[in-house]
Amino acid sequence: MIPLPLARIAEITSGALSGMADPRAVVRGPVVIDSRAVEPGSLFVAIKGARVDGHDYAAHAIRAGAVAVLATRPVEAPAVIVPDAAAALAELAAAQVRTLSDVTVIGVTGSAGKTSTKDLLARLTARVGATIAPQGSFNNELGHPLTVLRADLDTRFMVLELAARNIGHIKELTRIAPPQIGVVLNVGTAHLGVFGGKEAIAKAKGELVESLPRSGVAVLNADDPLVRGMATRTEARVTYFGRGESASIRAEGVVVDARGRASFTLRTPSGAAHVSLQLYGEHAVENALAAAAAGYELGLPVATIAEELSEATARSRWRMEVTDRGDGVTVVNDAYNANPDSMKAAFSAFEVLGKGRRRFAVIAALRELGEDGPALNAELGRLAGGAGLAGLVVAGPDAEPVLAGAHAAAQASAPQAPAGPAQPPAGPAQVPPGAAQGGWQAPDGAPPGAPAYHGQPGHGQPVRIVHVPDAEAAAAQLAAWLRPGDAVLIKGPRAMGLERTAELVLGGATQ
Ligand SMILES: Nc1ncnc2c1ncn2[C@@H]1O[C@H](COP(=O)(O)OP(=O)(O)OP(=O)(O)O)[C@@H](O)[C@H]1O
Ligand SMILES: [Mg+2]
Repeated sequence: MIPLPLARIAEITSGALSGMADPRAVVRGPVVIDSRAVEPGSLFVAIKGARVDGHDYAAHAIRAGAVAVLATRPVEAPAVIVPDAAAALAELAAAQVRTLSDVTVIGVTGSAGKTSTKDLLARLTARVGATIAPQGSFNNELGHPLTVLRADLDTRFMVLELAARNIGHIKELTRIAPPQIGVVLNVGTAHLGVFGGKEAIAKAKGELVESLPRSGVAVLNADDPLVRGMATRTEARVTYFGRGESASIRAEGVVVDARGRASFTLRTPSGAAHVSLQLYGEHAVENALAAAAAGYELGLPVATIAEELSEATARSRWRMEVTDRGDGVTVVNDAYNANPDSMKAAFSAFEVLGKGRRRFAVIAALRELGEDGPALNAELGRLAGGAGLAGLVVAGPDAEPVLAGAHAAAQASAPQAPAGPAQPPAGPAQVPPGAAQGGWQAPDGAPPGAPAYHGQPGHGQPVRIVHVPDAEAAAAQLAAWLRPGDAVLIKGPRAMGLERTAELVLGGATQ
């Protein structure tokens, strides 16, 4: 951050110094809300959370080198006392941005892919100048200002992820750091429950383009009608990315390899270049195009954009992490979070990646979908039940609609004729020395000779569907099922913590 004396911090936040705080003491950053992250020169912001009250860690923060604490009540430490710590943090961040005249702020929003796109775009801007971007998904009322406060006089770009959990949220975030470029990816069904409809979600996400100045640029997804419709809501110039001819930044001739990685020709008004993504899933094309369009607006050559996109691997964890175990089992860890759209994206990527192999999946009921929740979860169940899996694990609470949907779809695609002779699983299975040769044990440890899976959806035995209480139990079920050469997808909402399942299944294997 740009160094500030406590007197100035008190002025910006309308706070009062207490605890013998020296008004001339200078905060140099970082500004943190976790006392374990305090460094000499820090400002520690005491947030009262549901479980932990930051005020209890004030003295600890000072001992670790913090200059002062931003607090809502006096603590036994030098402090700036404010009525609302989050609001004060926002004011502080906004004031810092106003002093950074050489910084271009780029905001990214959308229902799915913000973090992935932000990570790609930050690679591109880093080619031009010093870039600040949030770590992981720091995109809310605390993460956003904390990220902004990491900027200093050398910073040239801030690539920020803006999340809307309700109408007005994005507007508030753009007030802290007004963007010159606003990227809108898609309008899906994440947080449908809070908003009550897709149009309301579009309204909330459109606040990003509404905030842009006349001199700014709105980067919109031409393939998403609700995003394209945002063009009328901005004074800024509009540019489109997408698959179709109408997009000025577009992907042509998209092909997906056997691992689900897309390659395409990136076409722009000033030339084209070949992009070969290392990111998994065809949905990565959308994110890559969005980043390319913003990078193009910043004047990056097409060849540079294509090179960076092709070199990028997932920077934030648990998003389509693909790992091969020593025994040839491929684990797709997409456990970071889930909504109906990202579930569909994950299953279609998994279908490509697991083609010709026995496939398993661990999912969990989606949350925050309001009154549509049961219907959307039943739809998720039908998606999974009809995906040609050999086994499906549904973990955690509220699983009934998912299970019902999965059973219905599994029955609909069940074999009409009796199963034929047992066959080994297709695919590149490497049978380790000592392992049983030929055929495979049916799931749940059924004896050899039990009806076998033929590797073809709808032609083998019906998908086995089990309900387990948690991430650990899901891993135990997979352990019973998995054989060399299988593929498994692990995907659920954040609260289920299914990355634990992946960790257990991988048992320390690295990516
Ligand atoms: N363009 C896309 N369309 C559909 N799904 C996507 C897209 N991009 C990423 N995903 C999937 O969505 C999930 C979340 O990705 P990511 O973290 O990039 O999104 P996000 O918008 O930042 O999510 P959050 O709102 O949780 O911060 C991952 O499972 C990822 O594989
Ligand atoms: Mg995110």
